[in-house]
Amino acid sequence: MSENSLESVLQEERTFSPQPDFARKAHIKGLDAYHKLYRQSIEDPDGFWASIAEKLHWFKKWDRVLNSEEVPFYKWFEGAQTNICYNCIDRHLDRNKIAVLWEGEPGEQRTLSFSDLHREVGRFANTLKSIGVRKGDTVAIYLPMIPELPIAVLACARIGAVHSVIFAGFSAESIKDRILHCQAKLVITADGGWRQGKVLELKNIVDQAVNECSCVKTVLVVQRHLDRDPFSCTLQEGRDLWYHQASQSQSIHCPAEPMEAEDTLFLLYTSGSTGKPKGIVHTTAGYMVYSYITAKYVFDLKRDDVYWCTADIGWITGHSYIIYGPLQNGATLVLHEGAPNFPDNGRFWSMIQRYGVTIFYTAPTAIRSFMKWGNQWVTPYDLSSLRLLGTVGEPINPEAWMWYHQMIGKERCPIVDTWWQTETGGIMITPLPGVTPTKPGSATLPFFGIDAAVLNEEGEPVDAGLLAIRKPWPGMLRGIHGDPQRFKDTYWSKWGGRYYFPGDGAHRDKDGYIWIIGRVDDVVNVSGHRIGTAEIESIFVEHPAVAECAVVGITHEIKGQGLLAFVIVREGVAGDDTLRKELFDKVIEKIGKFVLPEKIVFPPDLPKTRSGKIMRRLLRDIAEGRSLGNTTTLADPSIIESLKQQFVVSNS
Ligand code: WT7
Repeated sequence: MSENSLESVLQEERTFSPQPDFARKAHIKGLDAYHKLYRQSIEDPDGFWASIAEKLHWFKKWDRVLNSEEVPFYKWFEGAQTNICYNCIDRHLDRNKIAVLWEGEPGEQRTLSFSDLHREVGRFANTLKSIGVRKGDTVAIYLPMIPELPIAVLACARIGAVHSVIFAGFSAESIKDRILHCQAKLVITADGGWRQGKVLELKNIVDQAVNECSCVKTVLVVQRHLDRDPFSCTLQEGRDLWYHQASQSQSIHCPAEPMEAEDTLFLLYTSGSTGKPKGIVHTTAGYMVYSYITAKYVFDLKRDDVYWCTADIGWITGHSYIIYGPLQNGATLVLHEGAPNFPDNGRFWSMIQRYGVTIFYTAPTAIRSFMKWGNQWVTPYDLSSLRLLGTVGEPINPEAWMWYHQMIGKERCPIVDTWWQTETGGIMITPLPGVTPTKPGSATLPFFGIDAAVLNEEGEPVDAGLLAIRKPWPGMLRGIHGDPQRFKDTYWSKWGGRYYFPGDGAHRDKDGYIWIIGRVDDVVNVSGHRIGTAEIESIFVEHPAVAECAVVGITHEIKGQGLLAFVIVREGVAGDDTLRKELFDKVIEKIGKFVLPEKIVFPPDLPKTRSGKIMRRLLRDIAEGRSLGNTTTLADPSIIESLKQQFVVSNS
């Protein structure tokens, strides 16, 4: 069982005290100090956030910290002017320090100091300007995990262009949807990238997408290997440019544009429980302050840390905790392209040893894979440089937590289990390392300024219920691009507009610790990737052979959750392997391989209530072999036997 259930959470009684060596040197000194500062942050949020913001560079200071006049359209640091790229790079130029240690999947390495990064970002920014990108324009970025990815992101931020990074596992269709939705003028891509020893032909995929996007005027293509033959792709005359050619004569000096506090910094698309993915909007100053301070305290960042977050920059974790948070703190980053099991299962441990990584931040699904591959892949490596471990993306099961603690952290390193979302911009519920006693599977206590609660539907505090955030915070999303109503409906309607509703179920224990149980909406968390089941369903019902379908999340040993599809075929159509393959191919074509369902079954019918609503919980229970409880609301109870039968047959 990898997902946390309330029952399993209630049984977990282990507590791990902060390691004294770590605690002595930590930024925050002890639990009492945390509680005191936490209280201050809640009682006087304006004073608290102003004192944090003071640490950063501003072209002009704010007139007021928080404007709550038009709830839920909160504004932070109104009147201020700043630039997040300036705070990430220029502020650290006097320290002759390494910013990025990059390793490509085939093994090439590049090292960039803060001065190198300054030069490359300046050059990139001037290249963007030279092809007509202006402040406020939207730039889509579809790149592998090469240094040009953070460079492109930072270059956009430097000139005030809005970046919209698209994870390099998405298909042409998904790229097209996103580009059209945000009306990007420019797409930045590469000829290719590497994943598990294979080339991803990114430019060719972009070509398919962009052919249908009239808003795109230019495609800027980074050549992945200057020392080898470029991956085969063609550049369309008048539209496409090689980055190395377009940037050749560009100056490396590009002043950082003073941005208004609430100017949009980026859009990032994420799945919801209904319809198409939504473009989450993050703005400049609040996001900047929040990513800066969470990175500093949660990862206890110090001058000589070598920090490695294994996420892809295509997700929010990569935005906030590869690029913006750590760089604002002047940290040295490890950046890695490729899979954890290439060329073998020891790749990550070898990298930790070779780069002397001190802070390692990864996902529970990765940890479960490491466990499955076996300790023999870990033990040959010297992991003694590590001092802090983190996880993010989904609930971590205590078994994986204990393995991480013992095998990787050698019981020396605190683990920070960080709960947050694309929408929250930064970490919200987390232990502070060296401060908060940890319990395997609990994200523990809220970060400063975060008023987290577990509530029932009426908004009353309960032990087990819905997670709520009862106060605005600087890193919060400012909206859903182009859809203010959906913003209100999705996040602010649960408790009459008063509180933010993240969509997660949670339990609060006697010590006030929060345990995230999982999503309470039709969103499934597959390997830390958020997928709305409705998105997959709508792909399937487009197929002429499909009459109806329901997709549910089921427990998966490695991925946390996997998708299971129940597909009802039309009269006279066979639900067979040919159809199965066609449906799988459709998912790859429309979204990408990383959201493929584990299994498709073809039952004769779906369980429905008398009013016609599909009973998804029942489908999950049947798939996972649980007892079914109350089924009296079913319109046709006989369906259960045939469903069970179907499932047993397809399982064997
Ligand atoms: C959803 C957000 C935030 C970066 C990665 C995912 C789940 C995230 C945890 C955690 C339990 C977690 C929640 C949340 N989640 N971190 N530490 N413990 N659940 O970002 O795609 O926006 O997904 O991931 O269900 O709502 P995302």
